[in-house]
Amino acid sequence: MTRDVAQAVPEPEAEPVAPDVLDSLLNTPVTRGGAGVAVWRIETATVGDEELEVARQWLDEGERQQASSYVRAELRRAYEIAHAAARLVVGAVVDSPPEKVVWGRHPCPGCGEPHGRPRAEGAGVEFSLSHTPGQVLVAVADAAVGVDVERHPDDPVALAKLLHPRELEEIEAAAHGLLDGGRASVRFTRAWARTEAYLKGIGIGLGRDPHLDYLGTDAAPRRRLGEWTVRDVVVPEGYGAALALLS
Ligand SMILES: CC(C)(COP(=O)(O)OP(=O)(O)OC[C@H]1O[C@@H](n2cnc3c(N)ncnc32)[C@H](O)[C@@H]1OP(=O)(O)O)[C@@H](O)C(=O)NCCC(=O)NCCS
Repeated sequence: MTRDVAQAVPEPEAEPVAPDVLDSLLNTPVTRGGAGVAVWRIETATVGDEELEVARQWLDEGERQQASSYVRAELRRAYEIAHAAARLVVGAVVDSPPEKVVWGRHPCPGCGEPHGRPRAEGAGVEFSLSHTPGQVLVAVADAAVGVDVERHPDDPVALAKLLHPRELEEIEAAAHGLLDGGRASVRFTRAWARTEAYLKGIGIGLGRDPHLDYLGTDAAPRRRLGEWTVRDVVVPEGYGAALALLS
Protein backbone atom coordinates (compact mmCIF):
# COMPACT_ATOMS: atom_id res chain seq x y z
CA MET A 1 0.00 0.00 0.00
CA THR A 2 1.53 3.23 -1.13
CA ARG A 3 1.78 6.08 1.37
CA ASP A 4 1.71 8.57 -1.52
CA VAL A 5 -0.84 11.25 -1.02
CA ALA A 6 -3.64 11.08 -3.58
CA GLN A 7 -5.15 14.24 -5.00
CA ALA A 8 -8.62 13.99 -6.52
CA VAL A 9 -9.56 15.88 -9.69
CA PRO A 10 -13.15 17.16 -9.40
CA GLU A 11 -15.59 16.88 -12.33
CA PRO A 12 -18.20 19.56 -11.51
CA GLU A 13 -20.46 18.86 -14.52
CA ALA A 14 -21.04 15.21 -13.58
CA GLU A 15 -24.20 13.80 -11.95
CA PRO A 16 -24.32 12.26 -8.48
CA VAL A 17 -25.50 8.66 -8.09
CA ALA A 18 -29.27 8.41 -7.45
CA PRO A 19 -29.73 5.10 -5.63
CA ASP A 20 -32.75 2.85 -6.07
CA VAL A 21 -34.87 2.91 -2.94
CA LEU A 22 -35.57 -0.44 -1.31
CA ASP A 23 -39.00 0.06 0.32
CA SER A 24 -39.28 -3.38 1.80
CA LEU A 25 -36.97 -6.29 2.56
CA LEU A 26 -39.72 -8.79 1.72
CA ASN A 27 -41.83 -7.55 -1.17
CA THR A 28 -39.49 -5.50 -3.33
CA PRO A 29 -38.22 -7.29 -6.43
CA VAL A 30 -34.52 -6.51 -6.64
CA THR A 31 -33.17 -6.51 -10.16
CA ARG A 32 -29.96 -5.13 -11.49
CA GLY A 33 -29.73 -3.31 -14.81
CA GLY A 34 -26.85 -3.66 -17.23
CA ALA A 35 -24.69 -0.90 -15.68
CA GLY A 36 -21.42 -1.84 -13.97
CA VAL A 37 -22.67 -0.67 -10.57
CA ALA A 38 -26.03 -0.55 -8.79
CA VAL A 39 -26.76 1.20 -5.50
CA TRP A 40 -29.71 0.70 -3.15
CA ARG A 41 -30.79 2.93 -0.27
CA ILE A 42 -32.96 1.84 2.63
CA GLU A 43 -34.54 4.26 5.09
CA THR A 44 -34.45 2.20 8.27
CA ALA A 45 -37.70 3.76 9.60
CA THR A 46 -39.61 2.18 6.69
CA VAL A 47 -38.71 -1.35 7.79
CA GLY A 48 -41.46 -2.75 10.01
CA ASP A 49 -40.77 -4.90 13.09
CA GLU A 50 -42.40 -8.01 11.61
CA GLU A 51 -40.49 -7.57 8.37
CA LEU A 52 -37.21 -7.21 10.24
CA GLU A 53 -38.00 -10.28 12.32
CA VAL A 54 -38.27 -12.34 9.10
CA ALA A 55 -35.13 -10.78 7.59
CA ARG A 56 -33.18 -11.43 10.82
CA GLN A 57 -33.55 -15.17 10.17
CA TRP A 58 -31.34 -14.75 7.09
CA LEU A 59 -28.34 -13.63 9.15
CA ASP A 60 -25.54 -16.07 9.96
CA GLU A 61 -24.12 -16.72 13.43
CA GLY A 62 -21.35 -14.11 13.04
CA GLU A 63 -23.84 -11.44 12.01
CA ARG A 64 -26.14 -12.28 14.93
CA GLN A 65 -23.25 -12.01 17.37
CA GLN A 66 -22.12 -8.72 15.84
CA ALA A 67 -25.69 -7.37 15.97
CA SER A 68 -26.07 -8.29 19.64
CA SER A 69 -22.81 -6.47 20.49
CA TYR A 70 -24.41 -3.08 19.68
CA VAL A 71 -25.67 -1.44 22.86
CA ARG A 72 -27.67 1.27 21.07
CA ALA A 73 -30.83 -0.17 19.50
CA GLU A 74 -30.71 2.20 16.50
CA LEU A 75 -27.18 1.01 15.64
CA ARG A 76 -28.18 -2.64 16.00
CA ARG A 77 -31.24 -2.09 13.83
CA ALA A 78 -29.24 -0.31 11.08
CA TYR A 79 -26.67 -3.15 11.14
CA GLU A 80 -29.36 -5.84 10.83
CA ILE A 81 -31.15 -4.03 8.02
CA ALA A 82 -27.88 -3.44 6.15
CA HIS A 83 -26.87 -7.09 6.35
CA ALA A 84 -30.35 -8.35 5.41
CA ALA A 85 -30.46 -5.91 2.48
CA ALA A 86 -26.97 -6.93 1.33
CA ARG A 87 -28.07 -10.58 1.41
CA LEU A 88 -31.16 -9.66 -0.58
CA VAL A 89 -29.44 -7.65 -3.31
CA VAL A 90 -26.29 -9.79 -3.61
CA GLY A 91 -28.47 -12.92 -3.54
CA ALA A 92 -30.73 -11.51 -6.28
CA VAL A 93 -27.73 -10.74 -8.49
CA VAL A 94 -26.32 -14.27 -8.15
CA ASP A 95 -29.75 -15.96 -8.07
CA SER A 96 -29.53 -17.18 -4.48
CA PRO A 97 -32.00 -16.80 -1.60
CA PRO A 98 -30.73 -14.26 0.95
CA GLU A 99 -30.09 -16.83 3.70
CA LYS A 100 -27.86 -18.91 1.38
CA VAL A 101 -25.35 -16.10 0.71
CA VAL A 102 -22.02 -16.93 2.38
CA TRP A 103 -19.86 -13.96 3.35
CA GLY A 104 -16.07 -13.86 3.23
CA ARG A 105 -13.37 -11.20 3.12
CA HIS A 106 -10.75 -10.21 0.59
CA PRO A 107 -7.19 -9.97 1.93
CA CYS A 108 -6.38 -6.59 3.45
CA PRO A 109 -4.05 -4.74 1.03
CA GLY A 110 -2.16 -3.42 4.08
CA CYS A 111 -1.26 -6.67 5.85
CA GLY A 112 -2.63 -9.53 3.70
CA GLU A 113 -4.92 -10.81 6.50
CA PRO A 114 -8.55 -11.65 5.59
CA HIS A 115 -10.14 -8.40 6.81
CA GLY A 116 -10.28 -6.38 3.56
CA ARG A 117 -13.37 -5.74 1.43
CA PRO A 118 -16.30 -8.05 2.19
CA ARG A 119 -17.12 -10.61 -0.49
CA ALA A 120 -19.80 -13.18 -1.18
CA GLU A 121 -18.31 -16.66 -1.69
CA GLY A 122 -18.61 -17.86 -5.29
CA ALA A 123 -20.65 -14.82 -6.33
CA GLY A 124 -18.36 -13.17 -8.89
CA VAL A 125 -19.58 -9.67 -7.96
CA GLU A 126 -18.14 -7.03 -5.66
CA PHE A 127 -20.26 -5.28 -3.08
CA SER A 128 -20.07 -2.78 -0.24
CA LEU A 129 -22.47 -1.76 2.50
CA SER A 130 -22.74 1.12 4.93
CA HIS A 131 -25.10 1.75 7.85
CA THR A 132 -25.76 4.67 10.11
CA PRO A 133 -28.85 5.37 12.22
CA GLY A 134 -31.64 6.10 9.71
CA GLN A 135 -29.90 5.14 6.48
CA VAL A 136 -28.37 2.10 4.80
CA LEU A 137 -26.62 1.86 1.43
CA VAL A 138 -25.67 -1.30 -0.47
CA ALA A 139 -23.67 -1.23 -3.73
CA VAL A 140 -23.06 -4.15 -6.08
CA ALA A 141 -20.55 -3.81 -8.92
CA ASP A 142 -18.46 -5.63 -11.49
CA ALA A 143 -15.30 -4.02 -10.04
CA ALA A 144 -13.98 -3.17 -6.58
CA VAL A 145 -16.43 -0.79 -4.90
CA GLY A 146 -16.79 1.12 -1.64
CA VAL A 147 -19.84 2.97 -0.36
CA ASP A 148 -20.34 5.14 2.70
CA VAL A 149 -23.21 7.07 4.29
CA GLU A 150 -22.76 9.41 7.25
CA ARG A 151 -24.97 11.66 9.33
CA HIS A 152 -23.96 15.33 9.59
CA PRO A 153 -21.96 15.77 12.80
CA ASP A 154 -22.66 18.32 15.55
CA ASP A 155 -19.05 19.54 15.60
CA PRO A 156 -17.61 19.26 12.08
CA VAL A 157 -14.55 21.40 12.82
CA ALA A 158 -13.36 19.11 15.63
CA LEU A 159 -13.80 16.00 13.46
CA ALA A 160 -12.22 17.67 10.43
CA LYS A 161 -8.83 17.40 12.13
CA LEU A 162 -8.92 13.75 11.03
CA LEU A 163 -9.16 14.77 7.38
CA HIS A 164 -6.61 16.10 4.89
CA PRO A 165 -5.17 19.48 6.03
CA ARG A 166 -6.71 21.27 3.02
CA GLU A 167 -10.09 19.75 3.79
CA LEU A 168 -9.72 20.96 7.38
CA GLU A 169 -8.95 24.47 6.07
CA GLU A 170 -12.04 24.43 3.86
CA ILE A 171 -14.29 23.26 6.70
CA GLU A 172 -12.88 25.86 9.11
CA ALA A 173 -13.35 28.59 6.49
CA ALA A 174 -16.98 27.49 5.94
CA ALA A 175 -17.58 27.49 9.72
CA HIS A 176 -16.35 31.11 9.87
CA GLY A 177 -18.51 32.18 6.91
CA LEU A 178 -15.45 32.68 4.68
CA LEU A 179 -16.33 30.09 2.04
CA ASP A 180 -19.54 29.67 0.04
CA GLY A 181 -20.75 26.34 -1.32
CA GLY A 182 -21.90 24.44 1.74
CA ARG A 183 -22.11 24.64 5.52
CA ALA A 184 -19.22 23.19 7.52
CA SER A 185 -21.22 20.08 8.45
CA VAL A 186 -22.16 19.45 4.79
CA ARG A 187 -18.55 19.93 3.71
CA PHE A 188 -17.25 17.65 6.45
CA THR A 189 -19.72 14.89 5.55
CA ARG A 190 -18.88 15.15 1.85
CA ALA A 191 -15.16 14.78 2.46
CA TRP A 192 -15.56 12.05 5.07
CA ALA A 193 -17.97 9.94 2.99
CA ARG A 194 -15.78 10.33 -0.13
CA THR A 195 -12.67 9.34 1.82
CA GLU A 196 -14.28 6.37 3.54
CA ALA A 197 -15.87 5.11 0.32
CA TYR A 198 -12.44 5.29 -1.34
CA LEU A 199 -10.66 3.52 1.55
CA LYS A 200 -13.39 0.83 1.65
CA GLY A 201 -13.05 0.42 -2.11
CA ILE A 202 -9.31 -0.14 -1.75
CA GLY A 203 -10.12 -2.49 1.13
CA ILE A 204 -7.81 -0.96 3.73
CA GLY A 205 -10.52 1.04 5.48
CA LEU A 206 -9.23 3.32 8.23
CA GLY A 207 -6.02 1.27 8.26
CA ARG A 208 -4.93 4.11 5.95
CA ASP A 209 -4.93 7.49 7.64
CA PRO A 210 -7.85 9.59 6.27
CA HIS A 211 -5.70 12.73 6.39
CA LEU A 212 -3.46 11.43 3.57
CA ASP A 213 -5.80 11.77 0.60
CA TYR A 214 -7.48 14.94 -0.65
CA LEU A 215 -11.02 14.26 -1.85
CA GLY A 216 -12.30 17.80 -1.26
CA THR A 217 -15.30 19.36 0.46
CA ASP A 218 -16.67 21.11 -2.64
CA ALA A 219 -20.02 20.34 -4.29
CA ALA A 220 -18.59 18.65 -7.44
CA PRO A 221 -20.48 15.34 -7.47
CA ARG A 222 -17.72 13.29 -9.15
CA ARG A 223 -13.91 13.16 -9.01
CA ARG A 224 -11.08 11.02 -10.31
CA LEU A 225 -8.49 9.70 -7.89
CA GLY A 226 -5.90 7.56 -9.67
CA GLU A 227 -7.74 4.51 -10.96
CA TRP A 228 -10.84 5.36 -8.91
CA THR A 229 -13.98 7.33 -9.66
CA VAL A 230 -15.56 8.75 -6.51
CA ARG A 231 -19.15 9.96 -6.84
CA ASP A 232 -21.50 11.56 -4.33
CA VAL A 233 -24.69 9.60 -3.67
CA VAL A 234 -28.05 11.33 -3.26
CA VAL A 235 -29.31 10.84 0.32
CA PRO A 236 -31.87 12.77 2.44
CA GLU A 237 -31.09 16.09 4.12
CA GLY A 238 -28.89 15.58 7.16
CA TYR A 239 -26.75 12.87 5.56
CA GLY A 240 -23.90 12.67 3.07
CA ALA A 241 -22.83 9.65 1.03
CA ALA A 242 -20.34 8.59 -1.62
CA LEU A 243 -19.43 5.67 -3.85
CA ALA A 244 -15.92 4.76 -5.05
CA LEU A 245 -15.54 2.48 -8.05
CA LEU A 246 -12.36 1.08 -9.59
CA SER A 247 -12.75 2.07 -13.23
C1 LIG B 1 -14.33 -0.15 7.13
C2 LIG B 1 -14.56 0.96 8.14
C3 LIG B 1 -14.00 2.25 7.56
C4 LIG B 1 -16.10 1.06 8.31
O1 LIG B 1 -16.45 2.08 9.16
P1 LIG B 1 -17.91 2.57 9.63
O2 LIG B 1 -18.13 3.95 9.13
O3 LIG B 1 -17.97 2.37 11.08
O4 LIG B 1 -19.00 1.61 9.04
P2 LIG B 1 -19.85 1.51 7.70
O5 LIG B 1 -21.22 1.15 8.11
O6 LIG B 1 -19.69 2.64 6.76
O7 LIG B 1 -19.18 0.24 6.96
C5 LIG B 1 -19.11 -0.98 7.62
C6 LIG B 1 -18.86 -2.05 6.61
O8 LIG B 1 -17.65 -1.83 5.91
C7 LIG B 1 -17.19 -3.09 5.47
N1 LIG B 1 -15.78 -3.18 5.77
C8 LIG B 1 -15.17 -3.51 6.93
N2 LIG B 1 -13.84 -3.49 6.76
C9 LIG B 1 -13.62 -3.15 5.47
C10 LIG B 1 -12.45 -2.98 4.70
N3 LIG B 1 -11.24 -3.14 5.22
N4 LIG B 1 -12.60 -2.62 3.41
C11 LIG B 1 -13.81 -2.44 2.87
N5 LIG B 1 -14.96 -2.58 3.55
C12 LIG B 1 -14.85 -2.95 4.85
C13 LIG B 1 -18.01 -4.17 6.16
O9 LIG B 1 -18.99 -4.62 5.25
C14 LIG B 1 -18.65 -3.38 7.26
O10 LIG B 1 -19.91 -3.86 7.63
P3 LIG B 1 -20.20 -4.38 9.15
O11 LIG B 1 -19.42 -3.50 10.08
O12 LIG B 1 -21.65 -4.22 9.25
O13 LIG B 1 -19.75 -5.78 9.12
C15 LIG B 1 -13.86 0.69 9.47
O14 LIG B 1 -14.56 -0.31 10.15
C16 LIG B 1 -12.42 0.24 9.28
O15 LIG B 1 -11.61 0.97 8.76
N6 LIG B 1 -12.06 -0.96 9.69
C17 LIG B 1 -10.69 -1.49 9.48
C18 LIG B 1 -9.65 -0.74 10.31
C19 LIG B 1 -8.26 -1.29 10.36
O16 LIG B 1 -7.48 -0.78 11.08
N7 LIG B 1 -7.91 -2.35 9.63
C20 LIG B 1 -6.60 -2.94 9.76
C21 LIG B 1 -5.74 -2.68 8.57
S1 LIG B 1 -4.26 -3.68 8.65
